[in-house]
Amino acid sequence: MSSHPYYFAYENRYQVVYSAGVDRWGHSPDDTVLYDYLKSWVEQNGLAGKRVIEFACGEGACGAILSDLGCVYHGIDVSPSAIEKARSTLCSYQNASVEVLDMVKGPIEGEYDAALDCMGLHMLITDTDRAGYLHNVFSVLKDEAPMLFFRESYRREGVYSGTVDSFAQWSKITGDDYVTPQPRLVTRSDNGEVAEVFVPLLPARAKDKSGYIIEFENAGFLVERFEEMASSYAIPFSASIFVRKGS
Ligand SMILES: C[S@@+](CC[C@H](N)C(=O)[O-])C[C@H]1O[C@@H](n2cnc3c(N)ncnc32)[C@H](O)[C@@H]1O
Repeated sequence: MSSHPYYFAYENRYQVVYSAGVDRWGHSPDDTVLYDYLKSWVEQNGLAGKRVIEFACGEGACGAILSDLGCVYHGIDVSPSAIEKARSTLCSYQNASVEVLDMVKGPIEGEYDAALDCMGLHMLITDTDRAGYLHNVFSVLKDEAPMLFFRESYRREGVYSGTVDSFAQWSKITGDDYVTPQPRLVTRSDNGEVAEVFVPLLPARAKDKSGYIIEFENAGFLVERFEEMASSYAIPFSASIFVRKGS
């Protein structure tokens, strides 16, 4: 298992919110925008009955949707608490599985017909981690397999476009850290009461359109569609990007 500080930050956040009585932190399987995107992606690419891997799967919301849509699903995430939650979310689906795994370090095994990343790539800060992750994705996908990056942090302009070699450098540029607890309001699942928790605001690395396109092309993917997303409870400024592994 990874000893990277990211791992502790994510795990810590899931633990803090669950112990405050919150059932789910990330996307919900009831998110209609997410559902509609996944449904049309599955239909357009004929993915029912096919093997789909999700990176940074969190609590398994997309796994439930993809399973309902008939996919054979495998999700990976670095956080054991998120994976435990995903396991219980997906327990009634015979063709769904999840495991604790670092998508940057791997090793990621198997061969897949398609891949999904829902707010995962933007959590990786350094160029090396992002390229290592995209290399892992490339190596488990069949030629010409589609991949959807859903709601990745995005700005039209003004993003830092230089190289990022370390988290310390990123922290210097942005002031972000993944240690300082920040107050957040959450809703308890049992009685609907609002509670305050203190969790670090985990840094995300936004890119602009050309930044994403260059990054995907360098990793061997063709960018087929780039869509700015409406602001949502999950993230204010994001884009969804449809890519395909080059052969
Ligand atoms: C913003 S959350 C999104 C979770 C889920 N996809 C969703 O939309 O609800 C980012 C997720 O990335 C996971 N993550 C961060 N770094 C990772 C890594 N190196 N390998 C695997 N998962 C990672 C975190 O544990 C967290 O669950």
